[in-house]
Amino acid sequence: MWGPEGLDEVEAELLGPPEELTGRDVLELGAGAAQCSRWLAAQGARPVALDISHRQLQHALRIGGPFPLVCADAGALPFADGSFDLACSAYGALPFVADPRLVLREVRRVLRPGGRLVFSVTHPIRWAFPDEPGPEGLSVSASYFDRTPYVEQDDEGRAVYVEHHRTLGDRVRDVVASGFRLVDLVEPEWPAWNTSEWGGWSPLRGNLIPGTAVFVCVRD
Ligand SMILES: C[S@@+](CC[C@H](N)C(=O)[O-])C[C@H]1O[C@@H](n2cnc3c(N)ncnc32)[C@H](O)[C@@H]1O
Repeated sequence: MWGPEGLDEVEAELLGPPEELTGRDVLELGAGAAQCSRWLAAQGARPVALDISHRQLQHALRIGGPFPLVCADAGALPFADGSFDLACSAYGALPFVADPRLVLREVRRVLRPGGRLVFSVTHPIRWAFPDEPGPEGLSVSASYFDRTPYVEQDDEGRAVYVEHHRTLGDRVRDVVASGFRLVDLVEPEWPAWNTSEWGGWSPLRGNLIPGTAVFVCVRD
């Protein structure tokens, strides 16, 4: 699943035709509980689920799956050059790092020539709107161009959640400057069947503004 709209890989085929996933080495970045790796393994691929959070990987381990879990920073991948055919990420790692080019260059390094990276992030336009599912989430309240990170702190003032905003143009330049060719930028539309409301996500907002941006990149 690429995002809260509900676009799934069976429908989108952004990693290529499902029958061609068999035997492919796939790196999942910011895997969380490794839902994508579990699906990829079921298609016959050979995923590796990577996340910086040990706690998230404990959930992945509890749910289980026939693939390795790796606890590491996406900006310092513990793999040899050219280890993977594909890399993917559903809202993992990239929105949370100050230097996304570091991550993208690392992914390029571990991909084989012709390899593909597909990653989804919150659509940058959402940065300008309050994260509310109702009408209050439809009025611009902040500058789209303000790259100051969103930070939540604990009682001691330590950052416990950080999100880094990049404009759509920033993301395109990050991809290209890191040595990828951008072959598609998918903005999933909110489907009629999806009636769920979750956090700032809702049919009301989903029908009016995009919520997810999915970048399809090739390492030539
Ligand atoms: C919003 S969750 C998405 C999880 C999963 N892909 C999903 O679809 O449910 C973001 C994940 O990225 C991970 N993450 C954040 N920064 C990271 C980094 N620098 N390297 C690797 N993983 C990171 C977080 O620990 C978290 O599990």
